[in-house]
Amino acid sequence: MSRPRSQLVVKVVVAATLTALCMFILRQSSSSASENVFSRPQEGVQHVLVTGGAGFIGSHAAMLLLEKDNYRVTIVDNLSRGNLGAIHVLQRLFPEPGRLQYIFADLGDAKAVDEIFAKNAFDAVMHFAAIAYVGESMAEPLRYYHNITTNTLLLLEAMAKHEVSKFIYSSTCATYGEPKKMPITEDTEQVPINPYGKAKKMAEEIIKDYARTKRMAVMILRYFNVIGSDPKLRLGEAPRPELRVHGRISGACFDAARGFRSGLEIRGDDYNTKDGTCIRDYIHVTDLVEAHIKALDRAETGKVGIYNVGTGKGLSVKEFVEACKAATKVNITVTILDRRPGDYAEVYSQPKKINDELGWKAKHVNLTETLEVAWKWQLKYPNGYNNEIMSAV
Ligand SMILES: NC(=O)c1ccc[n+]([C@@H]2O[C@H](COP(=O)([O-])OP(=O)(O)OC[C@H]3O[C@@H](n4cnc5c(N)ncnc54)[C@H](O)[C@@H]3O)[C@@H](O)[C@H]2O)c1
Repeated sequence: MSRPRSQLVVKVVVAATLTALCMFILRQSSSSASENVFSRPQEGVQHVLVTGGAGFIGSHAAMLLLEKDNYRVTIVDNLSRGNLGAIHVLQRLFPEPGRLQYIFADLGDAKAVDEIFAKNAFDAVMHFAAIAYVGESMAEPLRYYHNITTNTLLLLEAMAKHEVSKFIYSSTCATYGEPKKMPITEDTEQVPINPYGKAKKMAEEIIKDYARTKRMAVMILRYFNVIGSDPKLRLGEAPRPELRVHGRISGACFDAARGFRSGLEIRGDDYNTKDGTCIRDYIHVTDLVEAHIKALDRAETGKVGIYNVGTGKGLSVKEFVEACKAATKVNITVTILDRRPGDYAEVYSQPKKINDELGWKAKHVNLTETLEVAWKWQLKYPNGYNNEIMSAV
């Protein structure tokens, strides 16, 4: 090789090595900078781990927390049910460094969860992540006990190890089963009749037992039927198409109104209720999330607070369908089928305790208005969050 040529080769190798070194240093410094922000406590700011933050309720919770300056949020979600598009919306709304980070992880993976706690200085955990369909739980009970009960246990173990003591738990009216007396108070006996409700009740028991041994600040919120969309239409309810079969009533009504299904199937009209269809208490997602933020702020060390979160008013499935027809202005065809296994006739809450103790009250109590907003979101995002994902690619 001639001398000038060999010098050129040396120069190229040196330049390439230096470039690679610079890129390595830059990458290291940017990742350690972002790690540092979330791994360090910040004066006056609560760092909240929101599990299930890609889902319907968790995404709304992350957004409402981030709208206040005194919270930073880490979302952990395995996207088994939620939407990456919801995370993209949140990232766009809160791009400032140190406000929001998303970590893809499965809460059943104890090692991954331990690592997440080791790298982040959490002040509190809001545990939304769960699979949550009554009918599916009847068909796949073990999956539900794993996902709900075992994962809550693993999360508590990580919290214990890393000394995080504030915990807000998403429980459900399904833990009460079908009480004889309405409305349901927090003292109503919990006799769940499906694996979903049983798994949540077991998780509650684990939390309460553990909280007795440690100085934890715990709030268990038992939600009734959650509906609606962010009033500013930034987020909404977008169950993935493969989950339609388990459908919640709002999704099923909108699917029928949009022609995705030929009509709406009501499961049972021979219940012992005013019009024969099931009675439920429909709570707006924004109201529910506000209850969480109050619970987070009022959680007291050494105490477990248990609250129903509902409107206190029961509406029948037929009434819901009428409100949906009014909101969408579509005359949805209705077919009556047999009852769905695991369903109960009538459940509605007595929300007095949360009204009195946390100063929380449901604000969105007009069902047609709630559905009108949710319908606008459906029309704005006809493919759910898919457009969000495409625009981010
Ligand atoms: N929607 C309701 O009417 C209602 C009523 C009562 C209680 N809840 C409870 O509220 C919580 C949130 O419900 P939702 O309606 O937002 O459900 P969702 O399915 O929209 O959201 C749940 C999220 O959890 C994630 N997830 C599930 N398993 C996970 C795992 N192993 N690891 C990491 N992420 C996981 C999913 O990907 C999803 O994004 C659940 O705990 C549910 O039981 C919901």
